[in-house]
Order: sequence, then C-alpha cells, then structure tokens
Amino acid sequence: MFCLDDGPRALDCLEFDDHLRHVDGLDDAAFLAMDLERLGRPELGASFLDAYVEFSRDPAPVALRHHYIAYRAVVRAKVAYLRHGQGDPGAAADAADHAALALRHLEHGAVRLALVGGLPGTGKTTVGGALADRFGAVLLSSDRVRKELAGIDPAAAAGAPFRSGLYTAAHTAATYDELLRRAGMLLSRGESVVLDASWTDARHRAAAADLADRTSNDLVALQCHADEGIAERRIATRGPTASDATAPLARMMSRTADPWPQARLIRTDGSLADSLTAAATMWEHAPGRAHRVAATAARAG
Ligand SMILES: Nc1ncnc2c1ncn2[C@@H]1O[C@H](COP(=O)(O)OP(=O)(O)OP(=O)(O)O)[C@@H](O)[C@H]1O
Ligand SMILES: [Mg+2]
Repeated sequence: MFCLDDGPRALDCLEFDDHLRHVDGLDDAAFLAMDLERLGRPELGASFLDAYVEFSRDPAPVALRHHYIAYRAVVRAKVAYLRHGQGDPGAAADAADHAALALRHLEHGAVRLALVGGLPGTGKTTVGGALADRFGAVLLSSDRVRKELAGIDPAAAAGAPFRSGLYTAAHTAATYDELLRRAGMLLSRGESVVLDASWTDARHRAAAADLADRTSNDLVALQCHADEGIAERRIATRGPTASDATAPLARMMSRTADPWPQARLIRTDGSLADSLTAAATMWEHAPGRAHRVAATAARAG
C-alpha cells in the first residue's frame, strides 16, 4: 500500500502470470488485515474486512476469513524463514510471530457444532443465542423447528401434556432429525452452528456427535444448569418465547433426562455475562482437530 498525496494506492506486482492474479477477493483483502493485526492493530484489520465484505457484497463464513488470514500469515512466515536462511538476524522471530498468528486464526476459525442443552428455563436459548452472536455462528432452536415442521407459527403457543401434542416421541425425533439435517448443510458450507434444544435423550446426542465426526468438525457439548427454583421463576417471568415449557413439565423432564457426562456444565444461576464467558471458554478450547493438525505442521516446520 502506498500512501500518496492524493490518497492510498494498492499495487499488486504480480504481472508475470495472469492466472495467479485470480483469487478470491477476500483472500487478497485478508493479506492487509493480517498485516494490520501483525503490526498491533487487529481491530483495524477486522473493520477493514467488515467493510470489504459489505462493499463487495460477497459474504463469507467467519471460518473462511480466519482461514485466509492464517494462509497469508504463513506466506509471510515462509518469506521470513527464507530470510533467516540468508542470515537476516531478525527473521526467525518474525517467522515465529507469523506462525503463531496463523495458528491462532486456525483455532478460532475451526468450524464447530455446539449443542446447548439442559432443562426448561435454564437459559439454553439465551446462552445459545449469545454464543452464536459472539462467534458468528448460526443458531437453530428445536422449539422453532418443532413448530415449523407442524406448520405452526414459532411464536404461537402449542403447549401440551408431557410427551403429547407436538411433543410425542415421533415428533421430537423428527425435530432433532431436521435440526441435524439443517446443521449438516450449514457445516458443509463452513458455518459453525449452535443447536439450542434440551438434548435430554442420549440417542439424539449420539446422532449429533456422529454428524460432527462425519463432517470433521469440532463438537462443543454444553449443558445449562440452574437450581430448580430459579429455572421455574424464570419460566414464569421471561418475555415472549417459542418455548411451551411449564414448571411441572420441567420437573417431569428432570426425572426422565439421560445423564450427559460428556457435556461441560454451564451454571446459569448467576449473570448471563458469567454464563457466556464460561460457554465461550468451552467454545475456544474445542478445536481439538484443527489444533492437532496445526501443531503437527508447526512441529514438522
Ligand atoms: N445466566 C443466565 N443465563 C441464561 N439465562 C439467564 C441468565 N440469567 C438470567 N437469565 C434469564 O433466564 C431466562 C432463560 O430463559 P430461556 O428461554 O433462555 O431458557 P431455555 O433453557 O431456552 O428454556 P426452554 O427450555 O423453555 O426453551 C431468560 O429470561 C434469561 O434472560
Ligand atoms: Mg429455549
């Protein structure tokens, strides 16, 4: 980038092979964003990419942004590595810094399938929505899908006794199947997904784990938990919701729910900010697969 008297100019010197000049625009834009981050201004890099996406009208999954930034950091790391071989004293640190930046973005950009479960009123929809907002994931809620499948407005009440009406085992199974079908489509496009449902049945959880495995994505299993009295008070006092849950139904569900030892417990008795921090930490530590691949590559390099 050249800052001239009449404004900045971008100059790409790749003139010798027309074919090499044809890349995803976001890939090229990510190079500048990466440099800005490396120079200590990550927020400028992020706002530049936001503006690029808005003006180019070429939206992309968050994962792809991270991927391109990591890729461009590896390009710089490789150049620094070559300079190191030529005796440049500062190049080793430069290469290591760029490699660390690449690794960070690979971890952040790993596509996740998050299950946010728990009993009624424990904050699944609230925490799941906040988590999806924080990380640019798509939120799908069983309460909405269940009603959509029945041709009912998700905002309309459809309360029914335990395991009847829209809540029979068959309709519940169809709801989870549809949630996972939609999640599979999104994951295959590189979108992380948060699935807000009670996840009280171990078979549905196994199907979700299987989906994450088949699509090579990281699974984040979170179980919201609040004391029964708190959850019941929240069910009674919360604003408009797609949920039909009532306190007696919550008690019934707590007696029949399968244990979920694989999930990380998210306490929701306290503030939403604390619950979100706990959930976000789990999200950030999830990318086992991406981390292993990148760490192996870093060791090999
Ligand atoms: N730490 C917290 N985490 C989540 N929700 C909280 C928290 N503190 C207060 N709340 C409030 O508790 C209520 C939780 O309701 P929410 O609809 O999210 O629960 P849910 O688990 O999705 O219930 P349902 O099973 O009926 O769908 C909301 O009104 C939310 O604002
Ligand atoms: Mg809910």
